[in-house]
Amino acid sequence: MKISRIANITPEALFEARRYFLKLGAGALVSSSAISNLLADLPQEANLNYTPDANPQKLTLNTFEQASNYVNFYEFSTDKGAPVKLSQKMKTNPWNVRLGGEIKTAQSLDVEEFIAKFGLEERIYRFRCVEGWSMVVPWIGFPLYKLLDYLEPNSNAKYVKFTTRYDPAMFPDQAKGIFSAIKYPYVEGLRMDEARHPLTFIAVGMYGKRLLPQNGAPIRLVVPWKYGFKSIKSLELIECVEKEPLNTWQEQNPKEYGFYANVNPQVDHPRWTQAKERLLGKLTKQDTLMFNGYEKEVASLYAGMDLRKFF
Ligand code: MTE
Repeated sequence: MKISRIANITPEALFEARRYFLKLGAGALVSSSAISNLLADLPQEANLNYTPDANPQKLTLNTFEQASNYVNFYEFSTDKGAPVKLSQKMKTNPWNVRLGGEIKTAQSLDVEEFIAKFGLEERIYRFRCVEGWSMVVPWIGFPLYKLLDYLEPNSNAKYVKFTTRYDPAMFPDQAKGIFSAIKYPYVEGLRMDEARHPLTFIAVGMYGKRLLPQNGAPIRLVVPWKYGFKSIKSLELIECVEKEPLNTWQEQNPKEYGFYANVNPQVDHPRWTQAKERLLGKLTKQDTLMFNGYEKEVASLYAGMDLRKFF
């Protein structure tokens, strides 16, 4: 049977097929590399099946072209446009994400298995980069709490740590060693209650299609009330941990970037104001909203905290 000849095979069907092989005793019958090959042969549908976002706030979307041609992906380049070309050979299928730390059972899942297990929905979110630009993007994925429920973190799990893949053959800036723009692998973290918040999202697509390499294919984090650098791309590892992870930008420059990175127009970056932002495609600036417009939903997470200190 040559799976690549089967038309319209769904991720669910593949997931079931894999389970079936595993039940039969995968070790004896099908090696895990053979399963990986089956996954790699699977023609990934360009269009994803998902529950659409009703867009109750009537947000106006940026265009797909805007969101996919102006990016931050330092593993390829510090330039906003260069990663588009440089990332096109990135091999994103199959792609396993390791899941570990303070959880019931350490394991790894292929992106297709995440989709089969947790389903897909659309989330139209504002996205605000710490540099002062913003966009509105329809992401496709699932809320992170679904994955956390499945992983069953134990009582030591106070934070979730995320790590981007480390593969200098794939990412040219990682190959530069001490001359790299930043230290790799890129790391981010969330407090457990932030990670479990219903807005916190794992994306595998945007604008109805799979993520393009430059936007963090095949799987990334999206945290809409935090500056964009928290939304780590091309995930390799997700761990539940006891201690607050030292995130990449905080390690890079702790005076300028903290752990929380909540969008806050009242707390300026040491080198520029955060009161305003430029929406991609617009010439004039607009006001930046507290928690990027998600104050009603998330302010209670930070009750009693000095947001100037925990920036
Ligand atoms: N993740 C990784 N691994 N490497 C990066 O350079 N840049 C971050 C974040 N995630 C980055 C990353 C920053 S600064 C921003 S603003 C967003 O990705 C940009 O996401 P986008 O390029 O899809 O708009």
